[in-house]
Amino acid sequence: MSAQGATAVVERPAGSDQPLLAVEGVTVRFGGVVAVHNASMSVPTGQVRGLIGPNGAGKTTLFDSITGVNTPAAGTIRLEGADITDRPATWRARRGIRRTFQRQQPFGWLSVADNVLAALEWEGGGGGIAADLVAWPTRRRIEKQRRQRVDEVLELCGLTDIRETPAGELPIARARMVELGRAIVSRPKLLLLDEPTSGIEHEEAEQLGEIIQTIRSQDQCSVLLVEHDVAFVMAHCDLITVLNLGQVIGEGSPEEVRNNPAVRDAYLG
Ligand SMILES: Nc1ncnc2c1ncn2[C@@H]1O[C@H](COP(=O)(O)OP(=O)(O)OP(=O)(O)O)[C@@H](O)[C@H]1O
Ligand SMILES: [Mg+2]
Repeated sequence: MSAQGATAVVERPAGSDQPLLAVEGVTVRFGGVVAVHNASMSVPTGQVRGLIGPNGAGKTTLFDSITGVNTPAAGTIRLEGADITDRPATWRARRGIRRTFQRQQPFGWLSVADNVLAALEWEGGGGGIAADLVAWPTRRRIEKQRRQRVDEVLELCGLTDIRETPAGELPIARARMVELGRAIVSRPKLLLLDEPTSGIEHEEAEQLGEIIQTIRSQDQCSVLLVEHDVAFVMAHCDLITVLNLGQVIGEGSPEEVRNNPAVRDAYLG
């Protein structure tokens, strides 16, 4: 695997203690079920944060609150300090929040490359329909840049050799990589990964770990990682938040979390 194309380092405003993402006292209910209860956590720019906990702890529900799939009954979600709790999912995606799903959802009939291309936001080249018709040089230049970015991501995700394969024909590990490629192609500020190693082999998980480290160092992308593979979480996260029954029961470095009695009781055993 390589990080070809030497993606430019993205400068983000420094000097403030403001986290990229802040979840403040979030509660989510489904009828009588309180899936997330008064949960708070934050993710600083460029950090890889783990979110772990038993089945049904509320991890995916919290992802849904952060990405705008559900609306919390209480609490606030902030992106770079701004309250985004009521912003729609598409708005958040445009401002740099991207995710993968517990179950992959690529467009099965599109090739691997087209799946990634389709996820790359069209930023426009000016000139409207007339420009499309005559293919203005600006348009052509932007289109070339888009295709270069797709090539770069395919290479990073180890997908170059299967770029023309319909995504629906891929084994699970490759399909997960396509989903990851789709999530990172627009250089998100915050990437949420929901159980990315489930159903994949150790070597593929290693590759995934390398990609996480690459995008965080090259693009200053922050990552929030939900994962049941505790060794993977411990290896790749700076800090880990632990949820149990919808509540945050512990937070700290991998070492601190491993030694936290409440976390051991509830999850690590
Ligand atoms: N759409 C929904 N309607 C009703 N209850 C839901 C819904 N989604 C989640 N829940 C409930 O909310 C709680 C948290 O579920 P969630 O899927 O967030 O857990 P999780 O931590 O992601 O679990 P897992 O590790 O199994 O993926 C569970 O009790 C679940 O049954
Ligand atoms: Mg889940």
